Amino acid sequence: MYKQDLFAAGTDTTSSTLEWSMTELLRKPEILSKAQAELERVIGKGNQVQESDIAGLPYLQAIIKETFRLHPPAPLLLPRKAETDVEVCGYTVPKGAQVLVNVWAVSRDPSIWESPNEFIPERFLESNVDVKGRHFELLPFGGGRRICPGLPLAIRMVHLMLGSLIHSFDWKLEGGVELESMNMEDKFGITLQKAQPLRALAMPIT
Ligand code: HEM
Repeated sequence: MYKQDLFAAGTDTTSSTLEWSMTELLRKPEILSKAQAELERVIGKGNQVQESDIAGLPYLQAIIKETFRLHPPAPLLLPRKAETDVEVCGYTVPKGAQVLVNVWAVSRDPSIWESPNEFIPERFLESNVDVKGRHFELLPFGGGRRICPGLPLAIRMVHLMLGSLIHSFDWKLEGGVELESMNMEDKFGITLQKAQPLRALAMPIT
């Protein structure tokens, strides 16, 4: 594996997750306030979020999971090839066929998720579903032998970055943009990016 592979796989994915989580929080100020209250309670005003704090921040963790559910940065994972003929749910996948796994669709499937298109972090508070490849309804990092090798780093980074941004700053949308009219479209590529970049103003919390 080359150094540039790690940069290519680790940058867009992480920044898109952060941009979407901030976008969802700016759209739902009550969720942002709840997350800020948790940070203030657990870490205290004026203190910086540390990696060791993440375990004690279940609501922040739920926000990140909900972001991965609605906005998986690699919506079709990496392509796979069937090594032999296999039967899946009554369909035969012939040897040699390329297989794309649409995790975007799975994580918005109404037969699995209640109100699948709504951003509701609370759904993860009472659930043991995680993103580590064990729960097939939520696979933003893929699974099996090709699971993202950057998962442990990425998980730490996104919690730390989002936690720091919302613990140290209050946020509002740049002038003139209404919450209701925010552009929530994706732009499809190898990774899924926000079609219109988020523009927001940071106000230090004193
Ligand atoms: C939010 C952040 C990230 C997400 C959502 C993500 C997601 C993924 C996914 C879905 C795959 C394909 C897995 C599969 O098909 O089963 C993958 C592969 C990969 N990821 Fe990540 N990734 C992230 C961050 C990172 C970081 C930070 C690094 C490295 C520093 C990284 C390195 C890689 C590499 C090298 C592969 C290819 C592995 C292979 O070819 O088998 N990723 N990632």
